[in-house]
Amino acid sequence: MRIGEGMRRVSYFQSSLGSRVVVALTGLGLAGFVVFHMLGNFQVFEGPDALNGYASLLRDMPILLWTGRLGLLGVAALHIALAIQLALRNRRARPVAYAVREFRNASLASRTMALTGSLLLLFIVFHLLHLTAGLVDPSAPDRLDARGHLDVYGKIVHAFRNPLYVVLYLIGQLVLAVHLSHAVSSSLQTLGFEHAALNRLFKTAEPAVALFVVLGNLAIIFAVFLGLVQA
Ligand code: HEM
Repeated sequence: MRIGEGMRRVSYFQSSLGSRVVVALTGLGLAGFVVFHMLGNFQVFEGPDALNGYASLLRDMPILLWTGRLGLLGVAALHIALAIQLALRNRRARPVAYAVREFRNASLASRTMALTGSLLLLFIVFHLLHLTAGLVDPSAPDRLDARGHLDVYGKIVHAFRNPLYVVLYLIGQLVLAVHLSHAVSSSLQTLGFEHAALNRLFKTAEPAVALFVVLGNLAIIFAVFLGLVQA
């Protein structure tokens, strides 16, 4: 390697290190959100009172709700903007030979982070328009349950009785699984926890978070579709 090229690589890694750390931290925060979101939605198995009561807890505290929503939006925006910047910088700075070598060693999930990240964003926009804003499916207007809480349980049951939404959400889960399966261990490595023993643990546990979240979400989707959870 020539000296000039070496210097360029060092400054490239230094300047991108801060961005990588922020992408890693925000990514772990978002992964934490999907885990808690899945566990929260799991209350669909306890019936409408449990899920609707839980969903109304936050709604009854608008300041907390909007702080949480804006915080989540900020974290997601930072994650996406810096991840795009890093991907573009990578593409510009990396010599072809190096790119080919790394491409061969990288897993499918790591090579497709930009693609799965973009598809995941599309899914989230669709999901918000569908279940939060209620704009996608006019046949599911917002209703209140017997206790006067928004009927989130009814929305979920209405959605997953319909094969079209089942298929769209299954595609979303597939994309989420691939994106998360690489994201968690790569974030932990970026944050400097790269020890031989820890590294082995991350590699083994790499798909664990992804599997946990996606299997949980699939259980909800199929339980409704197969009529195990009913309105
Ligand atoms: C089977 C899977 C899922 C179900 C049943 C589900 C269900 C829901 C429901 C019912 C809401 C509206 C809650 C309310 O109005 O109180 C919601 C909101 C939301 N979901 Fe999901 N969700 C699923 C998967 C996901 C995934 C995979 C993500 C992210 C990758 C996600 C991100 C969000 C976000 C960001 C909101 C907005 C939260 C807010 O209102 O502030 N969801 N979800």
